[in-house]
Amino acid sequence: MARKKLREPLEERKGSLYFDGFSVKELAEKYDTPLYLMSEKRIRDNYNRLYEALVNNYKYVRLYYAAKANTNLNVLRILHSQGAYIDTVSPGEVFLALSAGFTPDRIMYTGTSVRNDELKMLLDANITINIDSQSELDRLLKISVPQILSVRVNPEVGAGHHSHCITAGAESKFGLWEEEVIQAYAIAQRARVGRFGIHMHIGSGILDTEPYFLAVAKLLDIAKRVHKEVGIDFEFIDIGGGLGIPYKPEDKELDLTAFSKRVVTLFKNKVKEYGLGKPFLFMEPGRYLVCDSTILLTSVNTVKVTPVHKYVGVDAGFNTLIRPTMYDSYHHILVANKLNETNKETYNIAGPICESGDLLARDRQLPEIQEGDLLAILNAGAYGFSMSSQYNSRPRASEIMIMGGKPVVVREREQLKDLIAAQRIQSDF
Ligand code: LLP
Repeated sequence: MARKKLREPLEERKGSLYFDGFSVKELAEKYDTPLYLMSEKRIRDNYNRLYEALVNNYKYVRLYYAAKANTNLNVLRILHSQGAYIDTVSPGEVFLALSAGFTPDRIMYTGTSVRNDELKMLLDANITINIDSQSELDRLLKISVPQILSVRVNPEVGAGHHSHCITAGAESKFGLWEEEVIQAYAIAQRARVGRFGIHMHIGSGILDTEPYFLAVAKLLDIAKRVHKEVGIDFEFIDIGGGLGIPYKPEDKELDLTAFSKRVVTLFKNKVKEYGLGKPFLFMEPGRYLVCDSTILLTSVNTVKVTPVHKYVGVDAGFNTLIRPTMYDSYHHILVANKLNETNKETYNIAGPICESGDLLARDRQLPEIQEGDLLAILNAGAYGFSMSSQYNSRPRASEIMIMGGKPVVVREREQLKDLIAAQRIQSDF
């Protein structure tokens, strides 16, 4: 059996899994499961690695953390303290960003199907908006004229790990197409918007970066047309997020040095050739910064054999981590107390939700599992907790972060009373 080499913050000690130096078994016993276990250090390391790779090639770089990946206030505060900016998509995310200490000038809003009251709130707060439609622009300008405006472009090239996560190209609801982009900037200029940016985000979970480069090139070509035909300069060019991470043992990690070099060279060459001045290069990574900072711990309560499959029943289902059900995503799973045992069984890992799609893994090769074993589901830091729900009336999991060398409860486990917190009982029957 080829054992997956463990990466930080994971470590093997005498066959058991350790996380940032702590026994996950002891943490699971202390805090109960399902439990999201997070590493402050890994988030900081991820931010520094990406920022440095870019800034070493171009001075004017900003990273806008795509908050949707993980909105725990501590994650936001850690990234804020690193110098990150933040990309938001809802009034709730703006509220959380402000609560974490981001000032409005560090917040960007990249919404879709945006309501007028959202636009008013953003205008009042002076938050930079990436408009997603002509309709949004028209409604925005009726409310008031922003100081700065950016248009989300559909560069007609998309990429992503699943069709749901490809956010550009022919089948995408996002962004404006080239001719409409030109018109939108012309309208904004006539309305006396004074400062401009331009934006794209082509999809999520990109490990093959070729489409990304095509899209960046197309974005810059469109920026050139806007600059020439409308006569405006761009303060920033935002090339979106989407950088993938290896989920499967055989997935190759993104070559960050090569990627950064190539993307920045492309950017700089085109900016120079087209006379676009010295715009900031913005990126909006979500997954890359937080995904491998977190594991989901779940306890085995059931082992069940049918004539067709062997099932391992655990206490986390798609209410806790929806990605396997929603996108058929692979999350690597370790039996935390049996790291040195051979994979000799094939299991479906099933959660407690009453739907047959509630499987965290299908036909997974693992050591023989018994009731009471502890599973660690890797790469659960992005779109894990943030997509979790109370479906089947199961309170959401807790989050523990190893901060400053010790475990800290950064989100309490929800209680039964949280299931009825927003409900109002009619008293007349
Ligand atoms: N910027 C915008 C405008 C976005 O819509 C997104 C993600 C990002 C940045 C960050 O993308 P990232 O760097 O995290 O790939 N729930 C899916 C992912 C959906 C992403 C949606 N937009 C998943 O679990 O894979």
